[in-house]
Amino acid sequence: MSVSAAAQIHPPPRLLMGPGPVNADPRVLRAMSAPLVGQYDPAMTSYMNEVMALYRDVFVTTNEQTFLVDGTSRAGIEAALVSLLEPGDRVLVPVFGRFGHLLTEIAERCGAEVHTISTDWGTVFTPEQLEEAVAAVRPKVVAVVQGDTATTMCQPLADLGEICRRHDALLYCDATASLAGNEFLTDAWGVDVVTAGLQKCLGGPSGSAPITIAPRAVEVIDGRRHVEAGIREAADEAREGGLRIRSNYFDLAQVMDYWGPRRLNHHTEATSMLYGARECARLLVEEGVGRAVERHRLHGAAMLAGVRGLGLEVFGDVDHKMHNVVAVHIPDGVPGDAARGAMLTDFGIEIGTSFGPLHGKVWRIGTMGYNARRDAVLLTLAALEQVLRAYGARVTGGGGVGAAREVYDASEADA
Ligand SMILES: Cc1ncc(COP(=O)(O)O)c(C=O)c1O
Repeated sequence: MSVSAAAQIHPPPRLLMGPGPVNADPRVLRAMSAPLVGQYDPAMTSYMNEVMALYRDVFVTTNEQTFLVDGTSRAGIEAALVSLLEPGDRVLVPVFGRFGHLLTEIAERCGAEVHTISTDWGTVFTPEQLEEAVAAVRPKVVAVVQGDTATTMCQPLADLGEICRRHDALLYCDATASLAGNEFLTDAWGVDVVTAGLQKCLGGPSGSAPITIAPRAVEVIDGRRHVEAGIREAADEAREGGLRIRSNYFDLAQVMDYWGPRRLNHHTEATSMLYGARECARLLVEEGVGRAVERHRLHGAAMLAGVRGLGLEVFGDVDHKMHNVVAVHIPDGVPGDAARGAMLTDFGIEIGTSFGPLHGKVWRIGTMGYNARRDAVLLTLAALEQVLRAYGARVTGGGGVGAAREVYDASEADA
């Protein structure tokens, strides 16, 4: 192939207002273009230590084992589940959208005996429903999503850690879509392992999965420690135990040794991603994680009011919606994909479709990370009004931008 046929990367300007990925904060992109250093350079190892400390604040935890898994968010999920689960272990997955199915599938691939409970897309579970299932299944691990981007729902988790402790289960949570945009209190809620990604409310690109592991789960993972040949020392052989974790790349026992003071060689840390993940956390810690959640609440409320102001019907139980994404029913007669295409080509704005039973029925509009901003919300609503009109939908003229502005005016009056 000639290089002239593959010109230098020059992506079109886009405002990414779907359910993620969103535009990365320019500070994150700048950090990612910083020069590389070697993986054991003192500069690099101190960046790694800083990443651990910064993400403890993001996860609201004191867990020593807080670091990055290299890969997209599902790398974090796989690492958590394959390191915790041995074949035959019982797992309970409460499924309320596509990503509950993903947890189920990954746990099945680990050889676990997976039990699920389901609720309709657009709803969440009550603590009573969860406890009843935990008591019936008696799982080793309960694996749950906090915010399911497919349905926009945010599962309340404040009681689940306590329920799991009462029934001697570990609690794993996938907070990819919700962390930093909705309250998440790892220690206070007793969540044993949490994983996330950068491309939603953290304002970075996909490709790094922050993880935090509480001591109860560290004990389980450490109980399966098998250091690979070539770097294994006599003391490692003496400590070996349990069934070897079935993935080398996602073997969290080894990855913990790489991030810990021993710096035992494992993978080559993805340096530029680490720079980016570090800047995402720096941005959040600078703002204050609580204030970042409040920012997502405000801009999510403005978008919600805006789509309603246009006359669109919102999908699901709005009281349990994540702050950072809203799903709207595509009005009758409007071709969903063509209208999304017009948003992209005429206005440079991306909004999302959905999966499974919701595909072609709803659009998902996000307000997250760097794009949880007033100008991004107002522009999207203004463009959406024009596109809906062009496809013959009945919309209230100026109703979207007007309703969103009212939310902003009210919040300024409160301040
Ligand atoms: C809740 C949830 N979990 C997992 C994932 C998978 O993330 P990734 O595509 O970064 O692997 C996503 C992606 O949208 C998500 O929203």
